[in-house]
Amino acid sequence: MDMDIFYFSGTGNSLAIARSLAQTLNARLIAIPRLKDETEIRITTPAIIIVFPAYLSLLSGVPIQVMNVIRRMQGLKQTSIHAVCNCGGYESVNALPALHRLNMILKSQGARLYSAHSLRMPMNNLDYDHIPIPINRDTDDILKKSRKRIDGIADDIRSGRQTRFRILKRFFLLLLSPLFVMIRPAALKVLQKQAQVTSKGDCSYEAMIGRTDLGIVVSDACIGCSICASVCPAGNIVIEDHRPTFRHQCEMCFACDEWCPQDAIQHWSRQKGIKYHHPEVSSSDMDIRRHQRI
Ligand SMILES: Cc1cc2nc3c(=O)[nH]c(=O)nc-3n(C[C@H](O)[C@H](O)[C@H](O)COP(=O)(O)O)c2cc1C
Ligand code: SF4
Ligand code: SF4
Repeated sequence: MDMDIFYFSGTGNSLAIARSLAQTLNARLIAIPRLKDETEIRITTPAIIIVFPAYLSLLSGVPIQVMNVIRRMQGLKQTSIHAVCNCGGYESVNALPALHRLNMILKSQGARLYSAHSLRMPMNNLDYDHIPIPINRDTDDILKKSRKRIDGIADDIRSGRQTRFRILKRFFLLLLSPLFVMIRPAALKVLQKQAQVTSKGDCSYEAMIGRTDLGIVVSDACIGCSICASVCPAGNIVIEDHRPTFRHQCEMCFACDEWCPQDAIQHWSRQKGIKYHHPEVSSSDMDIRRHQRI
């Protein structure tokens, strides 16, 4: 198909989904981080797919870089836009708000989603213990189910099935909003603390996420191999004197923590010893320099 797939991924789940869709639909794969410095991104294919993970659904849902790159896309009105959001929790509570937000961003550019799809993937911090909800925690089972779901999504996209935000979905989001309003201040407080922003500082979501790298700790096990810098989708890591330094433009994606071969990086929101990346994705697959440009 004459189609481009744009993806953003920190621990490989979204890359695995995008790769599988690209293979089945014979589409071109484009890493969103490769476009982050482009001022204008011209869409020329009759259809595109945007694949992304849900990030902090109750605050935003869409990774900052994905929002920024989409805002710079030209020609969106002339293309059919499909979106695939994956999340670690329940899709209706986590992916649906993210897809809704994406649709709002597209609408502000005069475009809209032609189809919206969601699927559950393993939660990439895997720290489920504090979540008192009945949820499948079996990574192998979640991955097995996800493969079937990806095939279903590919079939829907190939056949041109349209899935707009129907009244029922809107109603569900409306029901969720009081809950989100209640939890939001606590989540923002955590970000503010990690970003070390005082009440007089820039407390916007974007500014705070960027500075959350202040809470990332690098241990003496670091050997200066620079793998963390190569997998960072934000270009946020510079190796100085054989050690990573952070530029406060973090996306909070966990890639540096996950792919460090020495286990030398500890992200503040991951419990120590907890690791996960998609089993079919390697650190060299995540290397930003190897990704294709548009
Ligand atoms: C910063 C951050 C925030 C997240 N927020 C949510 C969330 O609000 N709800 C959810 O279900 N999963 C959340 N997740 C889990 C990811 O959406 C999920 O594991 C996804 O598959 C990761 O994709 P990736 O491997 O392509 O990065 C979050 C992950 C990260 C790193
Ligand atoms: S990947 Fe790990 S070992 Fe390599 S430079 Fe980064 S922190 Fe150090
Ligand atoms: S510094 Fe680490 S967590 Fe932040 S964007 Fe880069 S890889 Fe992701």
